[in-house]
Amino acid sequence: MASRVSEVAVVGAGYVGLVTGASLARIGHRVTCVDEDGDRVAWLREGKMPFYEPGLEEMVARGTGAGRLSFTEDLDAAVGRADVAFVAVGTPQGDDGAADLTNVSAVARGIGRALARSGRRARPLVVANKSTVPVGSGDYVSALVREGAEEAGDAGAAGEARFGVASNPEFLREGSAVYDSLFPDRIVVGAEEAWVVEAMRALYAPVIEQNFPVEMDPRPSVTVPFVVTDLASAEMIKYAANAFLATKVSFVNEISDLCELTGADVGSVATGIGLDGRIGPRFLNAGIGWGGSCLPKDVSALRAVAREHRHDTKLLDAAVAVNERRRDLAVSKLRDGLATLEGRRVALLGLAFKPNTDDLREAPSLGIAAELLSLGAEVVGYDPVAAKAAAHEAPGLRAVFDPYEALAGAHAAVVVTEWEEVRNLDLRRAASLMREPKLLVDGRNAFAPDDARGAGLLYRGFGRG
Ligand code: UGA
Repeated sequence: MASRVSEVAVVGAGYVGLVTGASLARIGHRVTCVDEDGDRVAWLREGKMPFYEPGLEEMVARGTGAGRLSFTEDLDAAVGRADVAFVAVGTPQGDDGAADLTNVSAVARGIGRALARSGRRARPLVVANKSTVPVGSGDYVSALVREGAEEAGDAGAAGEARFGVASNPEFLREGSAVYDSLFPDRIVVGAEEAWVVEAMRALYAPVIEQNFPVEMDPRPSVTVPFVVTDLASAEMIKYAANAFLATKVSFVNEISDLCELTGADVGSVATGIGLDGRIGPRFLNAGIGWGGSCLPKDVSALRAVAREHRHDTKLLDAAVAVNERRRDLAVSKLRDGLATLEGRRVALLGLAFKPNTDDLREAPSLGIAAELLSLGAEVVGYDPVAAKAAAHEAPGLRAVFDPYEALAGAHAAVVVTEWEEVRNLDLRRAASLMREPKLLVDGRNAFAPDDARGAGLLYRGFGRG
């Protein structure tokens, strides 16, 4: 059966908005991405991406080429014709750790105004929230849309069922966002009204049924679970998922410390426990710990919610404390191997918070670089994509685009981000370029210790006996 084509407006052409818009166009819908930043809109119309994400440029080009994806600053026009309007704007961490809802509020009001000005009565609009917002925000979004409609002089909007709100959290990972948007583990929709759920189910039908054209064989899954909940539960699912992932990594990092003390190998331990279906093999890589724009922010927002309710989050507090220690641990491994950091040159291999992204938010590299510089070391950082931005973020860090340039003359190197380019380093060449003691602190356990030692490096991993 042919899927129904929906008209979609995606408000906010940032990371989540752009991937959402392009993937919905990819599965056959007509999508308008709206952004208030005129320069960004002009760039996108020329096919230029505002950030680095593998495969996104091609997916955007495919959508615009097929006439199914466009970009505009005109919120009224996009919302006026939409069946579904997504809110996909940032909810940065405020000073108190809680999510800052300024952007979400402005967009919700704007959608309300646009809805009223469009004057449409027959077709209701789904306002689907993709921004990560505190539990309970669905009602708040609903109130703001209504307020916006009233501001635009449409008092009737409050009384008539002309829109309904859904929470549709995003689970895509930076670096594999295109894949995640087309082949997700699940789609979660929280709503209080059945018609809203059905509109969202229809929108995602090609993904749920995996019946859109794809140049990939075999497809990774046959059907994708569509999870329907109330609004508050969908909002909580987003936070709980990220908090669980963060805790899982902190857990394996704590085990990693114990492995180091007892002579066990954390890689073998992760394999041994990960094969238990209840535990699962993913997110068990020990090392420098978690960073990025989501895990730290969302754990912190969840703790802020708990504080508001005067509730203790002992486990989450511990997950954060364990994670903060990881960067210090990297520095102390350097200090142990070099005796002093004063006047020593250290190469940081990989600067982005994880591979395949240029995102430096909460990147372990920045904290480690600042600490090493304060201890008198000279720091040279390599990253295939984020080098220039990192030099800007960490004054004193010399950033380069070639790993061997970073290694030349270095007394020590730290694997901070396991880019393919880092994993594929020629370790003999690295050793030949480095100065004694040629210390390699492997913050991602990316290399086999014997290979590194065989190449002439002094190897220190995490939790490797
Ligand atoms: C995370 C979630 O994985 C996504 O599902 C979610 O949609 C996203 O946040 C979001 O809320 O927008 P992301 O921040 O892109 O995605 O990165 P992850 O792949 O989750 O990695 C997070 C951090 O954990 C990275 O610093 C990574 O190096 C670290 N990590 C991950 C480990 O140290 N060990 C592991 O085993 C896995």
